[in-house]
Amino acid sequence: MDARTVWITGAGTGMGRAAALAAARDGRPLALSGRRPEVLEEVAEEVRALGGTALAVPLDVTDRLAVRSAAAQIEEELGGVEALVLSAGLNAPRRYWRDQDLDEFAAITETNLLGPVSVIDAVLPGMRARGEGTIVVISSYSAWRFSPDAGAAYSATKTALGPLVATLNAQENRHGIRACHLCPGDVDSDFLDRRPQVPGAQERAAMLTPQDVGRAVSFVLTSPPHVVIDELVISPAKPGP
Ligand SMILES: NC(=O)c1ccc[n+]([C@@H]2O[C@H](COP(=O)([O-])OP(=O)(O)OC[C@H]3O[C@@H](n4cnc5c(N)ncnc54)[C@H](OP(=O)(O)O)[C@@H]3O)[C@@H](O)[C@H]2O)c1
Repeated sequence: MDARTVWITGAGTGMGRAAALAAARDGRPLALSGRRPEVLEEVAEEVRALGGTALAVPLDVTDRLAVRSAAAQIEEELGGVEALVLSAGLNAPRRYWRDQDLDEFAAITETNLLGPVSVIDAVLPGMRARGEGTIVVISSYSAWRFSPDAGAAYSATKTALGPLVATLNAQENRHGIRACHLCPGDVDSDFLDRRPQVPGAQERAAMLTPQDVGRAVSFVLTSPPHVVIDELVISPAKPGP
């Protein structure tokens, strides 16, 4: 049992996978969550190949009971969760008022806002009892600066993660718990396939890589316990005029 366990949602792909591999290199035991068991198992194998420990715990973050039982399973099999990386996220190609769909709006809200709340809620009592915990919420550049093409549901839910993190720091720092609102700009990942216009190879080459964000997550997780990184904004270098 190792209380340094890191639980990552959205761990099967993109930034979640990159954060997992970075945390494995830092020697942390990992619990990997997302909806697709097969991609989680692939990442778990990559972690084991690095000499690390990984447990795939498939779940849908919008399923509150599944989140609760996953938290209990992780505690039993890997020990208390010391760090959370919340990377599971959703956007829809129809993201303008002229074409958005209310069911999709609700799904984005359930995934991007209530999902993180549910996972955090499941681990906070244990973190409080142990007097330590780090929570990295992968938000978005569009939460830091209004981005007109991100869509109403995505912009609103990601922007709400800022105050979510701020309340955690205001109320839980005294219990040894700290949180970071991590706001990446464009990252070349599967997520871009859900844009109304899917970017091509040339556009993607100018973006951040998931590994860039994985390194930033590692920086937050490995900072000394008295350091709170409230917000971290990372963007690709600007092309200039
Ligand atoms: N790519 C960008 O340009 C960009 C920029 C800023 C912020 N972000 C944010 O960064 C985070 C990671 O995105 P990414 O770029 O790494 O894309 P990604 O590879 O598509 O990762 C998203 C992950 O979320 C998981 N997921 C989605 N819905 C879920 C649910 N209901 N329950 C559990 N897991 C769920 C997906 O796995 P399953 O499908 O297997 O569940 C997937 O592994 C997201 O929160 C996204 O909003 C992305």
